[in-house]
Amino acid sequence: MRSAEEVRQEVCAVLAAYPPPAAGQLRFLITAGPTYEDLDAVRYLGNRSTGRMGFAVAEAALKAGHQVLLVVGPTPVPPPEEAVTVKVRSAQEMAAAVLAALAWSQVLVMSAAVADYRPEKYTDGKIHKTKDELVIRCVRTPDILASVNRQKNKPVIIGFSLEPEVDQEMAEAKRATKGMDIIAANTTASFGESFSDAVVLEDGREVFTPGNTKEELARYLVARAEELAKKR
Ligand code: C5P
Repeated sequence: MRSAEEVRQEVCAVLAAYPPPAAGQLRFLITAGPTYEDLDAVRYLGNRSTGRMGFAVAEAALKAGHQVLLVVGPTPVPPPEEAVTVKVRSAQEMAAAVLAALAWSQVLVMSAAVADYRPEKYTDGKIHKTKDELVIRCVRTPDILASVNRQKNKPVIIGFSLEPEVDQEMAEAKRATKGMDIIAANTTASFGESFSDAVVLEDGREVFTPGNTKEELARYLVARAEELAKKR
């Protein structure tokens, strides 16, 4: 696993190559994909996110003429070729990358399915099957949005939630407590698919109805982020 400092240095080097933003151009920091939390040299805790939603937002933002930095967890789906990408593995690495690029960004899109827990102990090499049971104790990973909320100048924040079914009340509560401007409440049915069944909420109001493709949702989110960024 890379240290936070190694990740920070990579992000800073990548950002140094961006030109100053042109008039009307925004800087989008977008996370996508899962995180993998390593148990030993062979195994990890992961999830089924593919990154497609975040990639669609990156493409929509680039098409609209904005600058994009994609922070991507491990996924077999390739990110859009035209997007500058920093690859990370764990929630800790993703947190380090986001915090390093935060001051650069005007819009943060947290579409990554960040693991909530990681194994407390990493074992070098491979854990062998010497006992009938193996108990894996897990501890919380850093909550990236909580760290973002502790910063002074926050970008426009778009977050996601994922549940088997959309519960608008729960999603709105999450939006408010996690300091998001907008939340897209997804269900597990859209994992890896091209459609999105997300309900988009802003201040408790449903502003975008489900039943669209990830591309349509991405275009909506980019257009709305532009409007919100103008008001800052
Ligand atoms: O509370 P929950 O994990 O469902 O919130 C989901 C949102 O929070 C997503 O936008 C996700 O990217 C973000 N998140 C985070 N740090 C974590 C876990 C989730 O920023 N450790």
